[in-house]
Amino acid sequence: MRPSNLSLIATVLLMALVPVASLAMPDEVRIPIVREHEEGDPPDAALFSHWNHERHKCYTCHPTPFPQGRKGFTHDELDEGQYCAVCHDGKRAFAVDDAECETCHVPATE
Ligand code: HEC
Ligand code: HEC
Ligand code: HEC
Repeated sequence: MRPSNLSLIATVLLMALVPVASLAMPDEVRIPIVREHEEGDPPDAALFSHWNHERHKCYTCHPTPFPQGRKGFTHDELDEGQYCAVCHDGKRAFAVDDAECETCHVPATE
């Protein structure tokens, strides 16, 4: 077999593996709690929905600002324009401070 055929086969195999990688993507992710939610704070961790963000390519968010794993962060970092606030700045998408808390801190259902 010629080397060019081999690389074609390798490419086809690689393309076949991409949907397998997407299967590992959960529709929704609870962002891990890094700083404790006190009494009076929304009790539930913020929920991120891949489904609500499907118009964006994976590489818009991975590996930055989000490594492809569950890391977690705080509002202080959102206030600095990091993580969700890269887009949720009131221009590209609604600002973190303009939204109802429950928009992100979606109450967990039993
Ligand atoms: C745009 C999404 C978004 C909105 C809107 C939002 N939060 Fe958060 N919040 C987060 C994320 C993400 C975290 C990090 C994960 C976690 O602890 O829930 C967080 C964390 C927190 C924490 C944990 C401590 C800290 O400082 O990070 C508190 C308390 C909190 N939010 C309160 C609120 C309150 C109160 C509101 C409404 C006034 C609100 N949040 C609105 C996304 C949001
Ligand atoms: C708009 C931003 C955004 C886009 C686009 C996005 N993701 Fe994510 N993804 C996130 C966030 C936020 C998390 C959770 C990060 C955290 O918890 O700190 C996450 C987590 C993940 C995880 C880890 C889940 C877990 O429970 O460990 C995988 C896997 C993943 N994404 C795959 C994908 C794939 C594949 C695509 C494209 C089809 C994609 N993501 C597109 C924002 C995005
Ligand atoms: C790559 C840009 C981008 C990032 C990063 C991003 N979002 Fe969004 N998000 C959007 C856009 C664009 C919309 C839809 C436009 C709008 O509603 O303003 C949206 C919509 C949403 C909605 C409303 C969904 C609906 O229609 O009900 C929520 C909730 C939300 N994002 C939470 C988050 C949280 C939490 C994070 C961080 C973990 C995050 N987003 C990170 C771009 C982003």
